[in-house]
Amino acid sequence: MGTTVATFLQMKREGKKIAMLTCYDYSIAKILDEAGVDAVLVGDSLGCVVLGYPDTLSVTMEDMIRHGSAVVRGCSRALVVIDMPFMSYQASVYDAVVNAGRLIKEARGHAVKLEGGAAVADRIRAISEAGIPVQAHLGMTPQSVNALSGFKVQGKGEEAARRLLADARTVEEAGAFSVVLECVPPRLAALISRKLTIPTIGIGAGEGCDGQILVAQDMLGMYRDFTPRFVRRFGEVGAGMREAFSSYVNAVRTGTFPGPEHAFAKADCDEEILARLEQE
Ligand code: KIV
Repeated sequence: MGTTVATFLQMKREGKKIAMLTCYDYSIAKILDEAGVDAVLVGDSLGCVVLGYPDTLSVTMEDMIRHGSAVVRGCSRALVVIDMPFMSYQASVYDAVVNAGRLIKEARGHAVKLEGGAAVADRIRAISEAGIPVQAHLGMTPQSVNALSGFKVQGKGEEAARRLLADARTVEEAGAFSVVLECVPPRLAALISRKLTIPTIGIGAGEGCDGQILVAQDMLGMYRDFTPRFVRRFGEVGAGMREAFSSYVNAVRTGTFPGPEHAFAKADCDEEILARLEQE
């Protein structure tokens, strides 16, 4: 048995930090799983890093099911959380339960994530009561980019900080098994983490959270349209890929690839057949 939602709660109780990363495909899922991440988020950030949209708003349920199921097939140990895309849960509790169910039934994810606090508490409760673990997401919630007037730190003044803490308590009470805090002032995120019994997973929210998450393509240096301040590059994989691709182009152009070892010489065509074809 790999990581479960019970493991998440136990890790918080034992003071062990939870390491999460995003993932959108089978090959990288296998590498992440082997590397020991506790949980993988099939984030709707796939809209930007995989599909090239400027934000997450155009991501569909079909996108999440296709990419989610690929990630699930690549993970044998990590918990796989799949994001509920924009407008898959906002309109009604019914939509929320049906669409969360699709992410579990069709993609075979282990949990779902949705954005918002008190406003979506009834969705979190209904999905949890249907037996589907829910991760909440507070602070900078990218699906509300237009309402928030851009991507910026949330919870700065007293009123906003109080609202954020109240939302965190509300989602916990509604049944969420953990909560992502994105772009939240670090001391506020630490305080929220102390007040909750469920783990907080920070992104741009400082070291006081119970775990951390980053977009894999950001920390690998593969997605460079926009690099948030909170990203640390743990590898220059993008540069490595560019170098490998240009070596390939060069090898093809100069005829150094493929070599004889890359062809099926033993199964080569018979001399006589080739001679006859040559005549035609
Ligand atoms: O979609 C996503 O990748 C996310 C993380 C950044 C938390 O929601």
